[in-house]
Formats: sequence, C-alpha cells, structure tokens
Amino acid sequence: MKVLFNGRFVERSECKVDIEDRGYQFGDGVYEVIRVYNGTFYLLHEHIARLFRSASEIELVLPFSEAELRDQLKELIIINKVDDGGIYLQVTRGTAPRKHQYKPGLKPQFIAYPLPVEKPVFQQQTGVSVITAEDLRWLRCDIKSLNLLYNVMAKQKAYEASAFEAILLRGGVVTEGTTSNVFVVKHQIIYTHPATNLILNGITRRKLLELFQKNGWPYQEKKITKDQLLTADEVFITSTTAEVMPVTVIDGQNIGAGTPGRLTKEVQKAFQHHILLETSKK
Ligand code: PDD
Repeated sequence: MKVLFNGRFVERSECKVDIEDRGYQFGDGVYEVIRVYNGTFYLLHEHIARLFRSASEIELVLPFSEAELRDQLKELIIINKVDDGGIYLQVTRGTAPRKHQYKPGLKPQFIAYPLPVEKPVFQQQTGVSVITAEDLRWLRCDIKSLNLLYNVMAKQKAYEASAFEAILLRGGVVTEGTTSNVFVVKHQIIYTHPATNLILNGITRRKLLELFQKNGWPYQEKKITKDQLLTADEVFITSTTAEVMPVTVIDGQNIGAGTPGRLTKEVQKAFQHHILLETSKK
C-alpha cells in the first residue's frame, strides 16, 4: 500500500510522524473519509470543500489548493488500484515542542491512504439496532476534527451492546449518531437536525436533502425529541460508509413494524441510483 504523505507517495513504513506531532498529542487536526465506487470518487469536491472548511475553522492553513489535493487523491487510488473502498485523509497542525499554544509557520502533516470499506448490504436490507446515549461532545461538532474521544466512547458502548450505532441526545434532543446523521419519518414527513454547530453536516445528509427535494418528499430540518424518535414511523441513519441504513430497533424497542420502512427504502433506492449515476462515467 502506498500512502500519500505530505505530497509524496511512499510506503507506510516511510511515514515518519514525530512524537510531538500535535495531532498525536492534542488531536489538533481535521480529517475526511471519502468513498470510492467503481474506481471513481463519490462526492470528492464536497468532501474536500468540507476539509478546507474544517481546517479554516481551526485556523489551520493548508499548504495546497483544493484542486491540487483532488488530483493527488485521484492518483492515490490509481496507484493503489482502489476499485470499491474508501480513502482516509487527515491533516494535523504539525510538530512543535509540547505546549497547548502554537506559533505560526508550523508545517501541517498530511496523510491519505486507502481504507477497505464493505458495503453493508445485508444490514441495509434488514435494518439495524441502535442505542441512545447522552451527547457529551464539545459544541463545535460541525468541524470534522480528530478529537473523537466521546464518539469513540459512545460507539464502544453501542458495540458492547451489539448495536450498530449510538444515537446521541443533547438535552433530550436527537443530534446525530457517533459516525452518522439521523433521520426520522413521521406521517410521511422526514425530519433531521438542522445543520448547526451541534452536528456534522454530513455529505450524505446534504445529498439526501437534495434528493428529497427532487423527488418531492416533504422534509424539515427540525429538532426531534427522544420521544418523537422512539414513536417514529421510520428511522434511518446516513454516512459515507453506511450510506442509508434503516434503524429498526432503538434501545430494544421496535420502530414502526420493526422492519425497514417504505420511505426509507425509497430513499435508499434514490441514493443508490445517484451513486451509479455519478460513478459510472469513467
Ligand atoms: N463519519 N456525523 C458524524 C459525527 C460523523 O463522524 C459522520 C461521518 C457523519 C456522516 O457524514 P458523511 O455523510 O459526510 O460521512 C455524521 C465518518 C464516515 C467516519 O468518521 O468514519
């Protein structure tokens, strides 16, 4: 496997990251996960634009342009012969003697490499169980930051409960999952948390909102309570790797009939259609 390391393609063993890298010590950096289908990036522009936004929000100046990065990532998947899978990329503020504050002029450390991603086909058909957990993260969840400690803790709780995801609640309001956005269907209207500082505005989420509009499916970006979540007709979660995943059980309680809902299946179909449309033009 070749890794894109500060603009060069090198073996993993050649990626020397310092013990005082600020990503390693402080989680001082940002990242993206991008899906590749049929040898083609899906929504690459959108992911790279979000990376630049995340970096800008933490005042990290990236030493390349969006276009340069896109070109290098395209080369990375060719070199590694990635057909179906993903790319993980992260950039940290750089290396400096350990102090919370930093001086200008640090050299950001960039890495990108292929991630194996298996399309969770079976779970997409049958639906998954999830748990709920308190959302104890910081208040800038709109930044895709490397600080994932609480996400990790809540996801581990889900894993130990044999659940696919933990849906997070802040003050009784559903924000998002630890690695996904949450959608609730009630009386044929689709609800999802507004894109504020309390959630990551998922690239999948944004694409779905476009598809809802195109298909004339009514939706509202509106806060939903835990009660509304548990009494929903349908629930689904979305992410780059899970795509559109039906949620059929929450905290041991069935949602609707306990099977993937009708509208959820329509949304899945529309999303798969869009993926094909975007990634079959090689
Ligand atoms: N997770 N919310 C959070 C907290 C996330 O970490 C993610 C993505 C999403 C969905 O965003 P998108 O549709 O752009 O993937 C929402 C990635 C996949 C991860 O950390 O592995």
